[in-house]
Amino acid sequence: MFELPQPPEYIRSLKPYVPGKPIEETQREYGLKRVVKLASNENPFGPSPRAVAAARKSLKESHRYPDSAAYSLRKALSTHLSTAHRTVAPNELLLGNGSNELIDLLIRTYSVSGDAIATSQAAFVAYRVCAQAHGVRVLEAPLTEDMRFDLGAILDSVRRDSRVKLVFIANPNNPTGTHNTSLEIREFLESLAKIRRGSVICVLDYAYWEYVSSHRGKEAIPDPLVLQLEFPNVVVLRTFSKVYGLAGFRMGYAIGSAALLSYCERIRMPFNLATPSMAAAEAALADKAHVRRAVSENKRAMIFWQKELSRLSIPYWPSQGNFLLVNTRVGMGMSGPEVFEKSLKLGVIFRPVANYGLDDALRISMGTMLENRIAVRALERLKG
Ligand SMILES: Cc1ncc(COP(=O)(O)O)c(C=O)c1O
Repeated sequence: MFELPQPPEYIRSLKPYVPGKPIEETQREYGLKRVVKLASNENPFGPSPRAVAAARKSLKESHRYPDSAAYSLRKALSTHLSTAHRTVAPNELLLGNGSNELIDLLIRTYSVSGDAIATSQAAFVAYRVCAQAHGVRVLEAPLTEDMRFDLGAILDSVRRDSRVKLVFIANPNNPTGTHNTSLEIREFLESLAKIRRGSVICVLDYAYWEYVSSHRGKEAIPDPLVLQLEFPNVVVLRTFSKVYGLAGFRMGYAIGSAALLSYCERIRMPFNLATPSMAAAEAALADKAHVRRAVSENKRAMIFWQKELSRLSIPYWPSQGNFLLVNTRVGMGMSGPEVFEKSLKLGVIFRPVANYGLDDALRISMGTMLENRIAVRALERLKG
């Protein structure tokens, strides 16, 4: 007789990450031919054909282990990221199996069970999942009234709890789409530098940076690589999953101090990046026209959705990403999960965000114009 072992309490109570509902599953369950998925903030135009060709070409080397040092991609990223204001050396990069792996690596490298991370309520959920998986506590400051991170409240929690080792700020955040301005982030980093001799790491998650349209004025989102010149405790996260349309290849990267990231390198699995993924990412970097098109189509979709949501009197929060968070309670008299379930029957997959404590909201990713029109029609029908 064996008694099944029990994992620690923090694993037993962990609520796993719930991904967007897959298209095939929805087709099967509802007997539908056409299903539109606007649920995972993917690039609806897909990857660059050059990325696909590069991945395909790399397949004949599949019997070889990948280049664990990612020499070629590192070099390409270093060139891509370096500007007149800032050089990013190859050893200031850490590459991961999606930026999700980097979140996990940073937490595991810089905290032990019983330590804490500080972030906001309704912050991207991977911070919580990765922390809890290692017995690391999560301090979530409440959102401001306008659904943004309250950086002052986050600072207070860092001051109060001497075991906070990392702060996670998504800018813009997912699922809210809202952001913190240059002034706010700068003030925050200045104050954070004064706590425990600047030893708390600030992770700025810029998964949606390429989509950001607010670069000037009071509402601007700061360039994180420029901030790093002054604040070496800042680690920036970027990904190939969004604007580059390579979510399926799982490629993300962190930019930060070489010394700081070198410790994460020590615990990284030797072959965490697949050869086709690295080849696709490098080719995608070179296809700037593909990225430009994705950004301009996203802008077009965003304008369309904002106009249609206003016409349907469904309020939404301003977004700097490739998605919008809408208020279904006020706009449709229903909870987010209710609208999600009803939309499935009409062949449209949105993203419920009740797991973020946002029961009355729904997240909508920007699709192609055809997908957007189909999805608007579904909401219109549900509104009656
Ligand atoms: C804010 C944010 N960070 C990180 C990620 C993770 O991206 P990936 O692991 O695909 O690079 C996402 C994905 O949705 C995100 O929204």
